Amino acid sequence: MTSQTGPFIQSAAPDGFTNLALGQPSPRLLPMELFAGAAAERLHPGADPLVLQYGTRTGEMGFRQALADFVSQGHGIDIGSEQLMAAGSISLSLNMMCDLFGRRRGLVISEDPTYFLARNIFESSGMDVVGVPVDHEGMIIDELERIIASGIRPDFVYTIPSFHNPTSVTLSNARRERLVALALRYDFMVVADEPYNLLYFGNRAPAPLATLDDGRERVISVSSFSKILGPGLRAGWIQAAPSLIERIADHGVISSGGALNPVITHIVGALLENGSLATHIAALRNTFQARKDALVTALDRDLPTLKFHDPAGGYFLWIKLPEGIPASRLLTHARRRDISFMPGSSCALSAELDDHIRLSFAFYEEAELTAAAAVLTAVIGDWERNQTNY
Ligand SMILES: Cc1ncc(COP(=O)(O)O)c(C=O)c1O
Repeated sequence: MTSQTGPFIQSAAPDGFTNLALGQPSPRLLPMELFAGAAAERLHPGADPLVLQYGTRTGEMGFRQALADFVSQGHGIDIGSEQLMAAGSISLSLNMMCDLFGRRRGLVISEDPTYFLARNIFESSGMDVVGVPVDHEGMIIDELERIIASGIRPDFVYTIPSFHNPTSVTLSNARRERLVALALRYDFMVVADEPYNLLYFGNRAPAPLATLDDGRERVISVSSFSKILGPGLRAGWIQAAPSLIERIADHGVISSGGALNPVITHIVGALLENGSLATHIAALRNTFQARKDALVTALDRDLPTLKFHDPAGGYFLWIKLPEGIPASRLLTHARRRDISFMPGSSCALSAELDDHIRLSFAFYEEAELTAAAAVLTAVIGDWERNQTNY
């Protein structure tokens, strides 16, 4: 049984309760042995003590080079270290994007639904958020264009272009091109939040959106090691044109203290250099695909009327409930049977999405997911039979 409790963690997962809202790797997938080995290799009494000193603004050159190889090989692209910098987690990078690019108009346009905690980050920086709907090809760019043409001009568009949270869809190539063209035409930035690209189930990872920027200086991709190594590292990277990297590295927080998390970055650098992070991610892909398959198979068998997109990567299933079932009320009944999920309304900016639920397949083992699907089926079945009493 997968469980996590204790003093270190943000979200507990007690024994006997299946919380399908948890978008984080399960404890078994957190590679303590690997990380401890890298830490011992890099930090020991004879190691250079300057590792503990304030670091360079964009991250130590050895790390950036290893990161460039990792990103290039992982995505099948050719990225140089001058297009990359060490960063904090995505959450922190988004906060910096607000500081650096969000001051002119105080407005961000985002997919609706979106990552359920992103809005809070933007609003904490005093920005307003306007939503654009999503379909099977990602953000609907016609809608974005309509909003912008109506006079609503953002500082930046925030997008999760690959294996979107919560819908799991990937922005089509044609729409990617149109988004960057619109950014140029209407003078806004595009901030792409890309934590899941390397967790693909097909042949290769979708390229980071910043790869498409091609010197236009409009697109910034922010990524992290949270979903592929450990969320507790709170470390990641930013990819953008070298001029933008310089601009980001001029942020006051970096001027005062250098790149974020240099010690953690140094340890992760060992895992990049010796290839063990890439090997770990390959194993994660297999595990997540097996978990996703188990959940999809069980739902297809037990609830064939449910509608959802079969994810090609990432952590989530986004499911439309049968007609007339409000997710927020269904959740109350699910909790009584010791399962939980995220109601669509939690991911919504302004759209009415209480007819959707988000299920994570990242946290539980296959058998647990199959069992949870059976309980969910029973909860939905009870609702359909007894709805007047509910
Ligand atoms: C789309 C998206 N962005 C950002 C995050 C948070 O990333 P980090 O841990 O790097 O701040 C998550 C975590 O669920 C996510 O799904």
